[in-house]
Amino acid sequence: MASSNRPSPVLNLATRWYNYPLTMKKTKSMDTVSAFLSPYAHRIDHYLDLWVTEEGCPPALREVMRYCVLNGGKRLRPSVVMLSAEAAGGDAADELPQRCAVAVELIHCYSLVHDDLPSMDNDDLRRGRPTAHVLFGEAMAILAGDALLTRAFGVLCEAVQLDNPQNGAHVGRLVWELTRGAGSGGMVAGQVADMDLCEVPEGPEGLDYIHRNKTAALIRAAGRMGAICANSDEKTLAAITGYCESLGMAYQLVDDLLDVTGQITALGKTPGKDQVNGKRTHVTELGFDRARELSEDLTACAVEAISPLCEKGQKLQTLARLLVERNC
Ligand code: IPE
Ligand code: IPE
Ligand code: MG
Ligand code: MG
Ligand code: MG
Repeated sequence: MASSNRPSPVLNLATRWYNYPLTMKKTKSMDTVSAFLSPYAHRIDHYLDLWVTEEGCPPALREVMRYCVLNGGKRLRPSVVMLSAEAAGGDAADELPQRCAVAVELIHCYSLVHDDLPSMDNDDLRRGRPTAHVLFGEAMAILAGDALLTRAFGVLCEAVQLDNPQNGAHVGRLVWELTRGAGSGGMVAGQVADMDLCEVPEGPEGLDYIHRNKTAALIRAAGRMGAICANSDEKTLAAITGYCESLGMAYQLVDDLLDVTGQITALGKTPGKDQVNGKRTHVTELGFDRARELSEDLTACAVEAISPLCEKGQKLQTLARLLVERNC
């Protein structure tokens, strides 16, 4: 028997998500980021649509998985996969980097669904729409997150079936990179620390640990996966890794700054939640101005880290510079 506080799945399916008006408004700085990423974002949206669920997925679950994924995210992480593949001399349009890009975005989307749950950050707005648990109930949101996480590895492993035998050789390493970035020594470790569920050092060292894991680890995996798809040499892989580590830290820092200054219509999520939830951020530890400076320093580090790639790294440099100025 369904518990009384859990919305009925039948009601949920009838309450089609497209009845909910988008609250998001494009801003000038976001137009610049979107315009820059749009060739990559369009491609990733196409493949996400194709690959988000697998055969045998119940329609009710498919509906929720699609709701959580096909909803206008910035697609930063899959774009980093593709840009890194190109920076390492590969073709981002090949199927293997596409599969990596989809896998990384599916993991990111699951992490957002779980991050928003009442037992975590308790958010009711995401990408301009009600969060999955608000619309479909907590159990379905948890399970859809589980399914997205698992599907990410399915999408990646299906590359073994492609004609190119080299893909098969890469898949094991790509899966390993993804588990390192997303798992208990990466993103989940950061989320546990962010929720204050494990020992974390006081001060900037502890905050670095949280950001490095909860956000930078998946971005680092994204860059490395793109480079691996392109058969990158060690020097290129090291440059992309260093770039992604700094970019990931800067990205979370700007997210924390925007939680203080951002507008709900631009962010598509509710600002001010870090304070409500009593989160440790660079804003609480350093003050707003110093935190802003640090985001710029980290961006400069990202730009510097990729400089050995010369022109091949230019798009990644541009991305870092645009992201630090974003307002959503
Ligand atoms: C939000 O990520 C969570 C963070 C780690 C900062 P994004 O800001 O990339 O969210 P979407 O994918 O564009 O919605
Ligand atoms: C989320 O960080 C990091 C994840 C691994 C999902 P936040 O909790 O700051 O992200 P938002 O602000 O809810 O998007
Ligand atoms: Mg969080
Ligand atoms: Mg959150
Ligand atoms: Mg945040």
